[in-house]
Amino acid sequence: MGENHLVSFSMVFLFAAVFIGQAHGSSLCDKAAFPALCRSTLKGASDPTSALKNAIKHLIFETRRAKVSSLRIGSLKSLVVCKQNFDDAIDDLETSLAYMQKKDIASLKINLSAAMTDYSTCDDAVIESGEQKKASRVLNTDNLLEQLAANCLYLASLLK
Ligand SMILES: *[C@@H]1O[C@H](CO)[C@@H](O)[C@H](O)[C@H]1NC(C)=O
Repeated sequence: MGENHLVSFSMVFLFAAVFIGQAHGSSLCDKAAFPALCRSTLKGASDPTSALKNAIKHLIFETRRAKVSSLRIGSLKSLVVCKQNFDDAIDDLETSLAYMQKKDIASLKINLSAAMTDYSTCDDAVIESGEQKKASRVLNTDNLLEQLAANCLYLASLLK
């Protein structure tokens, strides 16, 4: 194969990669706050609605895990608040999915933002009670949950 053939083969491959990337919706996350993390939650969705649905379901899954993990730390004052807020976040995310189904985008966004607030309420409780060291795992997990929630809010902004 001559050099020209190699070049054109590379170009075909590049265009194919870009095209397949779009078909799989990975470009949906290009302007998200945390693009790589965003792409990892889409599960091949190619339109904003299914992308957001998968991203919210992923966030619900991670919030459930965060709750279980926080319960293993032991009894800290702040963790009572965190457990409650993880439950609230799951409720708010389920409500968001329901509003998405009804195409009520404004209510979807309000409830997504409420989930975001739930995570930071947990952070505040940990910090106010001076339990940062003992509950450091919760703060780290919350950081991830807040990034996932920010990506959901971004994907919600793509809906019409
Ligand atoms: C969810 O959205 C509805 C409709 O906008 C609103 O009434 C409700 O307060 C929201 N829930 C939260 C937790 O913000």
